[in-house]
Amino acid sequence: MTSQHPVSSVQRIHIALGERSYEIAIGAGLLGAETSYAGLPRAAHAMIVTNPTVGSLYGEDLVNALKGHYPLVHTVVLPDGESHKTWESLNLIFDALLSNGCDRSTVLFALGGGVVGDMTGFAAASYMRGVPFVQVPTTLLAQVDSSVGGKTAINHALGKNMIGAFYQPQRVLCDLDAIKSLPDRELSAGLAEVIKYGPIADMAFMAWMEANVDALMARDSSALAFAVRRSCEIKAQVVSQDERESGVRAILNFGHTFGHAIEAGMGYGAWLHGEAVGCGMVMAARLSAALGLIDQAFVDRLRHLVERAGLPVVAPVLDARDNVGRYMALMRVDKKAEAGAIKFVVIDPVGHAAVRSAPDEMVAEVISVSCHVR
Ligand code: NAD
Ligand code: GLY
Repeated sequence: MTSQHPVSSVQRIHIALGERSYEIAIGAGLLGAETSYAGLPRAAHAMIVTNPTVGSLYGEDLVNALKGHYPLVHTVVLPDGESHKTWESLNLIFDALLSNGCDRSTVLFALGGGVVGDMTGFAAASYMRGVPFVQVPTTLLAQVDSSVGGKTAINHALGKNMIGAFYQPQRVLCDLDAIKSLPDRELSAGLAEVIKYGPIADMAFMAWMEANVDALMARDSSALAFAVRRSCEIKAQVVSQDERESGVRAILNFGHTFGHAIEAGMGYGAWLHGEAVGCGMVMAARLSAALGLIDQAFVDRLRHLVERAGLPVVAPVLDARDNVGRYMALMRVDKKAEAGAIKFVVIDPVGHAAVRSAPDEMVAEVISVSCHVR
């Protein structure tokens, strides 16, 4: 599935976090290359965590690449999908670790998208009070966002990613070849998190996205390589400044307050995370305009880009009787909420973001408009 040797043009991005620093490698053919795993912590056991979809595509390549480094390479296969980002799945990892006699030096390898990555990271943070782990992200979304920065979590019925830990990986390996097997809908979902970086941090990147979104949708390899690299560079810069989100890191949640309400309100998995974030960014831009921080022309510009990336821009009705009330209730359990007051990442001005609250009536109007107009 992947080539045995990485191509020469591997991009490397450093995440500067003192003793928790690590490297993101981006290139084709990385996943199945033994050299990609050189220099990681040594151990008797390696445990690959994956799901049936990704495991059948890339599991064997990874096992073969790890065999040269670890005497015992185990694999645990979790059920696929956001609806399985739960305690039950997490426990399958612990079951596999304990039943295979994995000790506290065992290295975990997350092979999959953000769901596998977030759960593997959480398992690594807590197994025997912490073992090393490596992210091998296979979706675009995971390569540009979730595998980087050390946020790990599972969902709770009452809120998305509510239980987890900050825990940094030892290394992130973004194999661009993996994107080739990604379904179109998942590719679009990943583009949402790429688009996110423009309005909050880099308007030149937003203009590049506008010029290249068709190439990205067509999986042009050099366009994808640049999108992954630039996204990781921006994320690395933000995370290096504020690892545990006590300040600036919150801007990476642009679109997520509305988006998480959509995901939880529709039932996890009905809307993909990236789809909810794409629509949520349009809603957050509308709120920014309502607050007088940006003009309507920018809302239209962002909505157009989100739409061109194949993402929904009309928000779903979550409750036919009290739609606004349902959105508000779900947004009050967002991690940014303080004493029940909802906080939003707004654009202020374009190319920069800030965290703000807004009057309930204004938020209600944004929800109503967003559920009915493009
Ligand atoms: P996902 O992990 O569910 O993967 C999407 C689908 O694609 C799955 O069915 C998966 O099996 C399949 N797949 C993965 N790689 C494939 C490949 N190469 N070829 C074919 N199919 C493949 O979803 P996702 O979009 O990767 O991640 C979403 C999750 O990430 C959410 O739970 C979200 O909360 C989380 N997230 C976390 C962070 C963070 O900072 N930790 C940031 C953003 C999102
Ligand atoms: N995806 C948001 C963050 O990593 O902070």
